[in-house]
Amino acid sequence: MLTQGPIGIFDSGYGGLTILKEIVAKLPQYDYLYLGDNARAPYGNRSYETVYHYTLECVQWFFAKGCPLVILACNTASAKALRTIQQNDLPGMDGNKRVLGVIRPTTEVIGGFSESKHIGILGTVGTVQSQSYVIEIAKFFPDIQVFQEACPMWVPLVENHEHSSKGADYFVKKHIQGLMKQSDKIDTVLLACTHYPLLINKIREYLPVDIQLVSQGEIVATSLEDYLLRHPEIEQNCVKAGAVDFFTTDSTEDFNQQAAVFFGRPVQSKHAVIPQN
Ligand code: DGL
Repeated sequence: MLTQGPIGIFDSGYGGLTILKEIVAKLPQYDYLYLGDNARAPYGNRSYETVYHYTLECVQWFFAKGCPLVILACNTASAKALRTIQQNDLPGMDGNKRVLGVIRPTTEVIGGFSESKHIGILGTVGTVQSQSYVIEIAKFFPDIQVFQEACPMWVPLVENHEHSSKGADYFVKKHIQGLMKQSDKIDTVLLACTHYPLLINKIREYLPVDIQLVSQGEIVATSLEDYLLRHPEIEQNCVKAGAVDFFTTDSTEDFNQQAAVFFGRPVQSKHAVIPQN
């Protein structure tokens, strides 16, 4: 039986809100359900098995809430869990439901941003080690050279509300320098972690002024709009009442306070209990 429900937006914590914000701006007619797995964040330095396991549990939670479509608004989950969920888990769960990530839509267009054909990627350890960006960009833009820098402290800084503090400067500078020393031809840097837009002012401070900085929010929103146009069988299952609901696996008070910064307007969240497999 076909049921209608909100579009699910998932992240390990607050980062996916930077994607949700752009999606809601572009497609305000749909209902959305946001889940931040803050109690288990960060995912970035966890093993493949752990990220897959946590992400699958959260996807099952979204499906139990009636979501016909779930966006993994998390590069780490997209890199380490998406393919297995799509290929192994989804067919046995519900043929009418879909799970999409943020890496594919980004790599489809990122080559168009660079003139020098040298692109820098800033991401979590998990995203960088997965080589997902290197592999996917090579498919769409074989002439682009990709340079990567893992920034293991950046998500903890954001999750612990330290993204504007003096202490953040040390780690931002360290990794910007670590990326830029890999090639002096880099003209475009991608924030390949949905938490990083919160550090954008500090990143800008340490990045040479002529380097273009790309965040994923608008790219993912445009890609979702296109996907829904191409897939009316999924689109017709998405409720269109313009409601946005927020859930966190950790403290709702903390989430409300912090999420308002990421999302740009007041947030009232509910606590989510994720059934463990
Ligand atoms: N927002 C997630 C991403 O895009 C952060 C992952 C983490 O929890 O470390 O990769």
